Amino acid sequence: MPAPLRRAPGGVSSNVTWHHGHLDRAERWSALGARGATIWFTGLSGSGKSTIAAAVEAALVGSGRPAYLLDGDNLRHGLTADLGFSDSDREANVARVAQAARLFADAGVVALVSLISPFRAGRDAARRLHAEAGLPFFEVYVNAPLAICEERDPKGLYVRARSGEIPAFTGLSSPYEEPVDPDLSIASDRMGVEEAAAAVIGLLRTSEAHPPPSGQDL
Ligand code: ADX
Repeated sequence: MPAPLRRAPGGVSSNVTWHHGHLDRAERWSALGARGATIWFTGLSGSGKSTIAAAVEAALVGSGRPAYLLDGDNLRHGLTADLGFSDSDREANVARVAQAARLFADAGVVALVSLISPFRAGRDAARRLHAEAGLPFFEVYVNAPLAICEERDPKGLYVRARSGEIPAFTGLSSPYEEPVDPDLSIASDRMGVEEAAAAVIGLLRTSEAHPPPSGQDL
């Protein structure tokens, strides 16, 4: 059995030992007839990340493929409820969700992460975490201009941020670092949700038709 991956951003707790299960990843995926991956949607609030990710989730699950949406707003009701929106809390948020996505992907599920994830370093660390585990990772930039996101303002947050009620709001008073070389860029102000979802599924299927060498287990 390949050596487990012990290193992770944030390190490892003291006095813990990796416990091996009875299955390696290939056995698990083969028995389940599933292949895991993480698709990471990044972009401004209101850019359409979650809407597109939910359409991808529905299409994949509808075709019999396990997929699960890990949405920033929803995760902040539980897994990351202790975190706010300072740079360091966002960093912790992205790192924690990357770990969760890696577990889903290892389990054979397509993890659909929808997080603003404003900093390149955090997104790159999420990619590295998956690469080290031998798991596919795709960065999808849901790219809509700030003016459009603000005009849409689906949750009424931009208005509140402009009035000073919400501090450190991404795109206004907190930075968003655009991806340099995303696997896919979606101009969500010019593309319908179904078309965008089809492009994401196309990316996944194309990469699976030409898979890189498989990596080690977690
Ligand atoms: S991230 O920056 O840490 O990746 P995340 O995706 O989890 O953010 O959460 C973003 C969501 O939280 C937004 O879609 C919005 O609904 C809400 N939100 C609340 N406060 C802020 C803020 N200051 N900046 C951006 N989004 C905020």
